Amino acid sequence: VAFRTVEWLDGTVPAVRLLDQTRLPADEVHLDATDVDTLVDAVHRLAVRGAPALGAVGALGVALALAQRARKGWPDARLRHEIARLRDARPTAVNLARGVDRVLPLLPQGQAAVLAEARRVLAEDEAANRGLSARGADWLVERLPHRPLRLLTHCNAGALATTAWGTALGVVRELHGRGLIALVHVDETRPLLQGARLTAWELAADGIDHVVQVDSAAPGAILRGLVDAVVIGADRIAANGDTANKVGSVGLALACADAGVPFVVAAPWSTVDLATPDGTGIVIEERAAQEVTALAGLPTTPPGSRAFNPAFDVTPARLIDAVVTERGVVEPRTHPDMSVLRLHDHTR
Ligand code: MRU
Repeated sequence: VAFRTVEWLDGTVPAVRLLDQTRLPADEVHLDATDVDTLVDAVHRLAVRGAPALGAVGALGVALALAQRARKGWPDARLRHEIARLRDARPTAVNLARGVDRVLPLLPQGQAAVLAEARRVLAEDEAANRGLSARGADWLVERLPHRPLRLLTHCNAGALATTAWGTALGVVRELHGRGLIALVHVDETRPLLQGARLTAWELAADGIDHVVQVDSAAPGAILRGLVDAVVIGADRIAANGDTANKVGSVGLALACADAGVPFVVAAPWSTVDLATPDGTGIVIEERAAQEVTALAGLPTTPPGSRAFNPAFDVTPARLIDAVVTERGVVEPRTHPDMSVLRLHDHTR
């Protein structure tokens, strides 16, 4: 993977540097956020997105807020307010709040201490991605031993959604490295096309054979036997394995359950939220109507039509064959309890 999704830029005015995902695949341009406003706006607009990448932004964003405070002379209350704005910029991915909370105890020690911890968040994410990818590939190969695999993925759970490598696309990369990928079906992922714009861009760069399809082609492809397994990422995994991910995920799981095709969630342990017992406690972000009622600025609906635009849905644990993390694999369909991996921390 030859790019960095999120990084820290040192300097007299430091910045959080983002690869601007609103501009891909046409333009590879960076967005340097030197203040909290710009960073929060980038999160709202999905210039940076994907749960683990948002975790990195949360942690680095606290260091950015400290740098801005040093320039502006903010009182403590203003600093806390700016950090809370960043923490709350999007509700569903647990990683954003978790990234902020991870570095907050170091606030009294200043920017260098916060930044050092934030860098650990990034490094741990990359290691987690590599670990879970190997486990996910092993799990699939054990169950589907006979041929190069035809996989289906939704949204973007690649290096663009993490600090490097990727989760669902990490599993794909790992299998590709073993010579075991025949084809990847990429759901375009309406309304913002993270699959068509971002996943296809990553797969093309790695020379991995893929087809982009409209989201509504997926269930038919699964029932027709064109797909050996579905692998997706996650924004928040509740204690019982219920999983929030990009809207459209639950339909894939239903089709897989009917067809007997494995439905696999690949995510780092940092996306598992044991404090949320099940999916009913997960807040689903609702986004602007215009994302649905217009395409590239042109209206696609009559002026009076309203939109329903949840950014995520929750796939019940009973439809998930495996949640693959760097700590191990849980099979929620039969063992709906993520806490069995609570003590399996190999990263620290
Ligand atoms: O709205 P987005 O693009 O932030 O949604 C992202 C997803 O749904 C991803 O699948 C998820 O965050 C996992 S990323 C490794």
